[in-house]
Amino acid sequence: MSESLKLQQNWVSMDELEKEFGEAVRNFHQQMEEGTSVGADFLGWRKLPVELDQEELKSVIETAERLRKQAEVVVVIGVGGSYLGARAVQDALSPYFGKDENNPEVIFAGHNLSGAYMNQLLKHVDDKEVAVIVISKSGTTTEPAIAFRILLEYMENRYGAASNERIVAITDQSKGALRELANRSGFTTFIVPDDVGGRFSVLTPVGLLPIAVSGIDILQLLEGAKSAMTAYASDDLQTNSAYEYAAVRNHLLNKGYNIEILASFTPNFATFHEWWKQLFGESEGKDGKGIYPASVAYPTDLHSLGQYVQDGRREIFETFVHFANQDENCEIPTTEDNLDGLNYLSDKKMNEINDVTLEATMQAHKDGGVPIVHLTVGQQDAYHIGYTIYFFELACAMSAYLLGVNPFDQPGVEEYKNNIFRMLEKPGYTN
Ligand code: PA5
Repeated sequence: MSESLKLQQNWVSMDELEKEFGEAVRNFHQQMEEGTSVGADFLGWRKLPVELDQEELKSVIETAERLRKQAEVVVVIGVGGSYLGARAVQDALSPYFGKDENNPEVIFAGHNLSGAYMNQLLKHVDDKEVAVIVISKSGTTTEPAIAFRILLEYMENRYGAASNERIVAITDQSKGALRELANRSGFTTFIVPDDVGGRFSVLTPVGLLPIAVSGIDILQLLEGAKSAMTAYASDDLQTNSAYEYAAVRNHLLNKGYNIEILASFTPNFATFHEWWKQLFGESEGKDGKGIYPASVAYPTDLHSLGQYVQDGRREIFETFVHFANQDENCEIPTTEDNLDGLNYLSDKKMNEINDVTLEATMQAHKDGGVPIVHLTVGQQDAYHIGYTIYFFELACAMSAYLLGVNPFDQPGVEEYKNNIFRMLEKPGYTN
């Protein structure tokens, strides 16, 4: 089997990286090991692949099985870290088109405040058997709370007392309105561990339950994360590529490259970009510091943002994620008249051309002054997606420490929340 995840970059030498960051990486690694780093109360994600409670994992799998039997459509309510991980994994590992007969449809709510979206969602589920998973660590976030109020009323009207058997809540073990509601109503519940923040929670029930409901093998996902945990256990950035990536990012930032674009040529990986953006954006963008995380889905965006990346302000670096192996491919037919002039490609398959386009793009952008990091992931499957999740989580924590910020808080997110409470005249928040 090919390597699970390989990092290549040739913008900065390993010697230079070692000189610039080697000691700091070793120190922060040790502090994380000892639980003395800034924000150490939220380091629970580091050991999740091996320390996840086995009884709880069994219960997640059983609950997922029950929901899969009960429902044709499962509505997953959540926002930010309580939503993006599940959706990213689901999109990356599900077919592009049509409903899969073996799995319920999983749809998302509570990540927007559009009345039209909610109205249409209610219409969409009305002729199908429904279940709801509501996820909020704090249990008080406005967007999912509103969505749940509406769906709870819908479920009660439709299923009466039996609605409780079709609702699962994932929240804090004791705090928050959702915990109180769940306890009172008797929903099945799962706990978001205290020591795991929202954006690092995809390998807890927050991500695992919805992912399992959609028919993806969560044991393989965890197995991949576990392998990554072993592979990235060293404190040495010369052998630990998660730490190398963290160091390269900070090296580039110090040289004035303050925007990172995550790029891939795999359309159903685009939601993973969104998970990655939240992970890095919320972890690093604070105290006037950070690298702005952006993303592109190539080749589509070569025809929109490609010009800017090639030729615009030189403050961008690009990280390409590429899958070495994919299960499916498509042949290009030969035609007799060759009117479109494409017969020169007809001994090739589409994925080969996609790979050549990736190489051509990386070369062009590098020549245009864009530093390139190239991550090759072995295969587009649950194991490797789990591996990649752990790689980015570890890299993100180290990168934020090298930047000099606490990776695990998000004080800036509160500002807008207080404004809406004030503007909507929530009791206690009026002027
Ligand atoms: O990463 C985070 O902590 C945030 O993005 C939260 O996940 C998001 O704000 C949702 O919060 P909650 O799960 O408390 O509803």
